[in-house]
Amino acid sequence: MKSFLSAALVAIVSVLLVFCGSGRQAQKGNGASVIDSSKGLKDHFANSFAIGVAVSPRALKTDEAALIRQQFNSITPENAMKMGPIHPRENEYFWRDADSIMAFAETNGIRVRGHNLCWHNQSPRWMFTNEKGDTVSSETLLQRLKEHITAVVGRYKGRIYAWDVVNEAISDRKDEYMRNSPWYRICGEQFIAKAFEYAHAADPGALLFYNDYNEIDPVKREKIYRLVKRLKDAGVPIHGVGLQAHWAINEPGDEELENTLARFSSLGLQVQITELDISVYNKEHNARERKPEDGNTDFTADKEQKQIDRYRKCFAAFHKYRKQISSVTFWNISDRASWLDNFPVRGRKDYPLLFDKNLQPKKAYWEVVETAH
Ligand code: XIL
Repeated sequence: MKSFLSAALVAIVSVLLVFCGSGRQAQKGNGASVIDSSKGLKDHFANSFAIGVAVSPRALKTDEAALIRQQFNSITPENAMKMGPIHPRENEYFWRDADSIMAFAETNGIRVRGHNLCWHNQSPRWMFTNEKGDTVSSETLLQRLKEHITAVVGRYKGRIYAWDVVNEAISDRKDEYMRNSPWYRICGEQFIAKAFEYAHAADPGALLFYNDYNEIDPVKREKIYRLVKRLKDAGVPIHGVGLQAHWAINEPGDEELENTLARFSSLGLQVQITELDISVYNKEHNARERKPEDGNTDFTADKEQKQIDRYRKCFAAFHKYRKQISSVTFWNISDRASWLDNFPVRGRKDYPLLFDKNLQPKKAYWEVVETAH
């Protein structure tokens, strides 16, 4: 009797185990394959590249935190480490937000990409002028840049594995090489190499990146390539190029994407996809229009399908270049709120990510996962 009872117990437990196990098998939308949904993106891509996400300290206090822990093994502070927020006045740093993101990452074994040390946007006003309001000299500005980089990189030495050192220094204009920013106007091109040298001195173990957007445009792509190649050839401590990848349902084209990844891979440095999102607004249409071309601001089935296709093609290409690509970071977590809701037009709803407003994986998520296997 006793042995019958224990046999029955074993049988019941086994049935339960099998049942629970199969509960973790999620059926992909079209039923084509079965994927273990207890795994996150980071697990599916464990043999290819790290999977990251841009975060605010606020998001880490919401239900998005659990999703981040489950899906991602890298995070980038979306704004908290930028020069303006972290260094609001000459002798004053604001560490709280950056520190709280670091604490979340370290508690959860997630690595951190630092973003960024030198940019024309979100830089503090005081940086470029003296007390009288006059523009500072090149020497003063480089000294200020050095102090900033030494303080920020030094504070997180050994804890931030990669930094976007210089962000968006190349011009979008076809006839112009460097962006006409205060950094460039005051210091000339040298501020770029200097920024890398200061960062390397502050943390010799950190990987240092040049990061830019419109990287798929053939003209801008060549300018970025040329800059990074020259830095590398000159012995500047640069370890990789960051491709922001702010793309849309109608771009990049297959050839554009292949050429971009092939070109940057040929540098012999790491390539990281640093700010990926796929807007549902067509690129040419994207600039000022409040509504998409079809006039419908919803996430329609047509847009969903186009986004699925684009995401699948992008990840298939990333997979092909996985030896060079060391991480792929999404710029925000879910369609609940993304920076594209306010860019380039304030209040224009976009649906650029792999999780919907309820933090559920979209169909595109499963297509992306399939490219890993
Ligand atoms: C964006 C943030 O997402 C916004 O919250 C902020 O208002 C502006 O900056 N390229 C970059 C990122 O390198 O730092 C930008 O982030 C998006 C474009």
